[in-house]
Amino acid sequence: MNLRRRHLIAALAAGVAAAPTRGRLAAERVSLPSPPEGQSPSVLARNENYWREVASHYDRSDGIVNLEHGYWGKMARPVQEAYLDATRRVNAGNSVYGRRHYPSDVGRSVRHIAQALGAHDDEIVLTRNASEAIQNLIRQYRGLGAGDAVLYADVDYPQFKTTMHWLESSRGVRAVMLALPARATQQAILDRYRQAFDAHPDLRLMLLTHVSNQHGLVIPVAAIAAEARQRGIDVICDSAQSWGLLDYRISDLGVDWAGFNLHKWIGSPVGVGALYMRRGTLEKIAPFPGEADPDNTRAATRIHMGTANFAAMLSIPDALDFHTLIGGANKEARLRYLRGLWTDEAERMPHVEVLGGADEASWTGMGAFRLAGKSSAHDAQQLQQRLERDFGIFTVVRKGLASGHCVRITPQVFTSPREIMALTDAMQRIRA
Ligand SMILES: Cc1ncc(COP(=O)(O)O)c(C=O)c1O
Repeated sequence: MNLRRRHLIAALAAGVAAAPTRGRLAAERVSLPSPPEGQSPSVLARNENYWREVASHYDRSDGIVNLEHGYWGKMARPVQEAYLDATRRVNAGNSVYGRRHYPSDVGRSVRHIAQALGAHDDEIVLTRNASEAIQNLIRQYRGLGAGDAVLYADVDYPQFKTTMHWLESSRGVRAVMLALPARATQQAILDRYRQAFDAHPDLRLMLLTHVSNQHGLVIPVAAIAAEARQRGIDVICDSAQSWGLLDYRISDLGVDWAGFNLHKWIGSPVGVGALYMRRGTLEKIAPFPGEADPDNTRAATRIHMGTANFAAMLSIPDALDFHTLIGGANKEARLRYLRGLWTDEAERMPHVEVLGGADEASWTGMGAFRLAGKSSAHDAQQLQQRLERDFGIFTVVRKGLASGHCVRITPQVFTSPREIMALTDAMQRIRA
């Protein structure tokens, strides 16, 4: 029996609805319990038995409470096994496999991403990470001339802000930074972007981050992109942190171009990202230097990856399978629930400032905080170090917000409420 068939049987035996397509997840051992009939994602989010079962599919390391899962996502064990199998297969087959079979095998990975995002296959290009996709989009954008302006925000990814600035020297444009409030609703964020559009009628291009890597703030991409389109401003969307943290399809974003990671919340091996370019929008993004696309029909010419990790790319269907078994909406709801466990407590602590969403739609499972009035780099570093040294909690300092520095808190699907309680206990005990 082939693995795909075994996987389907395992999934069905567990009562989990079969997803529209399947990878070849070495998943005969995967038997996630079916969520109780009719249980909505927000109810399932509180079902500790179910999430303990999910957690049992991940290897854990003892000794520290890790609340820094925004860096990259841990592979579930069946995905890791599929990845190790692929590594052995590729290594044994070497160039014969690489030249004869890999191109068609990796095509399956592209199809799986396209299907999961609701895109066409020819709109998706594999990359090694979101940086590769987004940096190429920014650098190869050809709609700029001297006197134009480009927009980014404080909540954007630091290295992409740098590249937006580099456009000043390389293209003679003006880079404008929009500072968002430390806490914001969807409406307030949209209003700020509208104000920036009004204030800078020379804007031609903007970077728009779906979920900020600083504090998990959700930007209302579709509404802002629609407004930008009306004003003739092109949008490059940074979805590096959002796919899997939030459950959505590409059409929900309403953008022409986006960069994704699969090694964060989709749970692929490290080294897997994707570029999305909507059909009919290729003419404004030049091919990779030296490559040609005379008809502007091949998004793939926008990336030149070189030799990359074959096995990681081949494991994409397996990662998407495992993600689908949990369910994107269930994952999002659980992560939101875990975030609420600490932010609800923290909101009642006068010495703590919670950063990010001011309404639920602006929140994700990722969040951030600082001690009230303590927003310097030194303050944030001290807070991170105290959490680690005195309480055994691992977090990370984020330095990009206009409102100041903070400590980011990011649980994963295998994080337990007890681990979140360790954080809130620590927050109670750390007084300014
Ligand atoms: C919002 C955002 N953009 C871009 C990136 C870059 O991702 P990568 O390093 O995987 O390319 C990250 C990584 O944390 C991110 O959070």
